[in-house]
Amino acid sequence: MLFHREEEKTTDAVPTKGTGFDYLSANDIYFDSACQSLRPREVMTAMSDYYTKYNSCGERVKYKWGLEVDKHVDETREELLKLLKCSPKKYFASFTQNTTYGLNLILSQLKPDGIEHVVTSDIEHNSVFLSTLSLAKRLNVPRTVLTRNDDGSVNTDEIPANSVVVLNAVSNIDGRQLKDINNVAGAVHRSGGIFIIDAAQAMAYYHSLVAGVDFDALCLSSHKMYGPSLGAMVVKKSLLDRMSLTFLGGGMVDDVQKDSYILSAKNEEHIHTALEPGLQPYAEIIGLGAAIKWMKKAEKDNHILDYSGQLIDFLRNGEGFHVLNHENTTTIAFYNDKFDAHLLAEALSDAGIMTRSGHFCAHYYLAHVKKYPPLVRLSLGLHNRQSDINKFIEVMEKVAG
Ligand SMILES: Cc1ncc(COP(=O)(O)O)c(C=O)c1O
Repeated sequence: MLFHREEEKTTDAVPTKGTGFDYLSANDIYFDSACQSLRPREVMTAMSDYYTKYNSCGERVKYKWGLEVDKHVDETREELLKLLKCSPKKYFASFTQNTTYGLNLILSQLKPDGIEHVVTSDIEHNSVFLSTLSLAKRLNVPRTVLTRNDDGSVNTDEIPANSVVVLNAVSNIDGRQLKDINNVAGAVHRSGGIFIIDAAQAMAYYHSLVAGVDFDALCLSSHKMYGPSLGAMVVKKSLLDRMSLTFLGGGMVDDVQKDSYILSAKNEEHIHTALEPGLQPYAEIIGLGAAIKWMKKAEKDNHILDYSGQLIDFLRNGEGFHVLNHENTTTIAFYNDKFDAHLLAEALSDAGIMTRSGHFCAHYYLAHVKKYPPLVRLSLGLHNRQSDINKFIEVMEKVAG
């Protein structure tokens, strides 16, 4: 059995299946999965297999270790496209450092032609908020910040023609989802625009929301979906026609002359190299492949929304607590009238409970639109147990009851 946290034997009525967190102590209660999920043992094993059995580079060598790397890296690209229901005829997957790098890599290389507007929303993470600010400035076009409705939707008639629209599919504040995402994609494309999804918070539990959507690009962070620290972009091949590749380097070219070069991406088979300058983090890419396989098994029978529902009910009934969530999601944000969020987080930490406090890289919305004080955020993962919820409630009753 992979899971042997002590409490499991006694207190958990409904243990989550498919766990790989045998290294986790019962006294460590981690509620910061929206930042980084814990890594299952299988992911670490896949990475250490790379280091100990075939540590070499990919796509450049003819020796057997390198060919093994190519096989596993190709598998991760395929797993990613499959998970997102993207046809390899239309899309490719490239790797990068994280969601932030992916967004910036794409936005900073878009040609100005035909782009008249940049659009985002008020509940975006700074990585979208700032990269769209930078894009609008570079292209010298107006930027609109849409107000997301309480249910996470946007009013598509507020999207101007020929816009680059960048929106999160799931918010890192309160887990709000862009439920009308297919309508948004349709509206953006009908009006000549480009639709880019920030899927950083969507991949771990809500990937079906973005799967099969007609996006032009989607950026994600492997470290928020049980994989190693890594980013990936899933990009429509036709988007490359609207990009001028300026971030260049090794691994991207078939030939180089004094003042010119031939991009390898011109060959369909190597199209992913358009966004992969330099040597890639092969162990991490292989780890992401293992994480996707693990996730597909582990998510089948989990109780994560039962747990978050219990936390939300508890907080809503507590004196002076304000919960931001409009619905039950795996990410919960709250504040208390009497207790400072950072002090609360410290008190929880003293009891082994790890939460986030502050404005979670969403300063514009939380600090300036809503003018909220610093908040506490609980973000759950597939490693969490019923006993983690019980302990949180017990400690909060003591600390702020
Ligand atoms: C919704 C959202 N978008 C983008 C990001 C940026 O992710 P990264 O820091 O991995 O680039 C985050 C990180 O928390 C996020 O929650």
